[in-house]
Amino acid sequence: MSLSLIEDWPFPVFQIDEGRILFANQAAQEWTGDSVNRMRGRALTDMIRTEPALDQQLAKSAAAATVLTNRACTATLPNGTTLTCHVTIYPVEGGTQGVSFWMAGLRPREGELGAPIVSGMGRLIAHELKNPLAGIKGAAQLLRDDVQSSEGRALLDLIGSEIDRIRRLADRMETLGDRDPDQMGPVNIHTVLRQARTVVQSAEPRLVFTERYDPSLPNVRGDSDTLMQAVLNLIRNAQDALRETAAPEIELATRFRAGVTARSREGRRARHLPIQITVSDNGSGVSDDLQDHIFQPFVTTKRDGQGLGLALVSKVAKAHGGLVEVRSRPGRTSFSVLLPDPTGDVS
Ligand SMILES: Nc1ncnc2c1ncn2[C@@H]1O[C@H](COP(=O)(O)OP(=O)(O)O)[C@@H](O)[C@H]1O
Ligand SMILES: [Mg+2]
Repeated sequence: MSLSLIEDWPFPVFQIDEGRILFANQAAQEWTGDSVNRMRGRALTDMIRTEPALDQQLAKSAAAATVLTNRACTATLPNGTTLTCHVTIYPVEGGTQGVSFWMAGLRPREGELGAPIVSGMGRLIAHELKNPLAGIKGAAQLLRDDVQSSEGRALLDLIGSEIDRIRRLADRMETLGDRDPDQMGPVNIHTVLRQARTVVQSAEPRLVFTERYDPSLPNVRGDSDTLMQAVLNLIRNAQDALRETAAPEIELATRFRAGVTARSREGRRARHLPIQITVSDNGSGVSDDLQDHIFQPFVTTKRDGQGLGLALVSKVAKAHGGLVEVRSRPGRTSFSVLLPDPTGDVS
């Protein structure tokens, strides 16, 4: 990993030399509330107290030159907060050691650990995306001269417009969480859903979609690119969940649902969230204990998964003043994004 990746990594990473801090990334500095300059030379175990204590594991990892992970650790921060986390200790160059913490079972509190985790990741992803995108766009433009059929050209146009969309997303990911919902524009969620379906079906024409929309729903106030990204992530997960299913089917649905409320950002007024967008599949489902964790970053059950899709869906829903929920049993899994009705009243 390059230094800038570690620096932006959303979880705390320390580099220590004989137990004393040499380096701490941004997340580690947020954890301890101290700058890396002030931490340098201090014993890590003085700053972060863990149960079980780190000392023995540090020695074990150093002696065996091997990576050690403790998956059930509690860490107490200088400000007294205690968190449940995974700790990984690994040998780094010159006999120094890396110590990284990963909050697996933690439900981050909004505005504290929650926001920086995803926005740090957003910066990182945005940065890493832009170069390859420019290359793909250039290649698609070159191909245009060679492609004669109108079907082929339509696909190239789709590539071009999707690349533009990803670029806009990359530009926006940093600030999405901070956007004022009043600055967003009217979005027809059915247009977003239909376009998401077109994108997915052009890659997998045999995938069966059912659409059940309530055409009377008003536009929501939002950002169509990020809403589209949320829907695409839900569809991709459904596709993954359907790989073993005999007659795979994805349902896209919208409806008006009374009775769901959320606290507004200021935490004072309850806001109704009557506009429901649901992506369902008839796959094997999400187990109950996993359901509590799947919206956290880096939680994945897939061999090559990143565990960022649902964290992003949740972030997009929140940025729109809404929320996302999951209901699952074998054979029927539904993810619903619930959004406020901009024409309705806020009580
Ligand atoms: N439709 C679904 N059916 C079953 N499991 C799902 C579904 N959507 C998400 N999951 C579970 O949630 C996990 C996290 O999803 P996500 O955040 O998108 O990350 P990733 O897709 O990279 O694993 C998945 O690994 C999977 O276990
Ligand atoms: Mg996913």
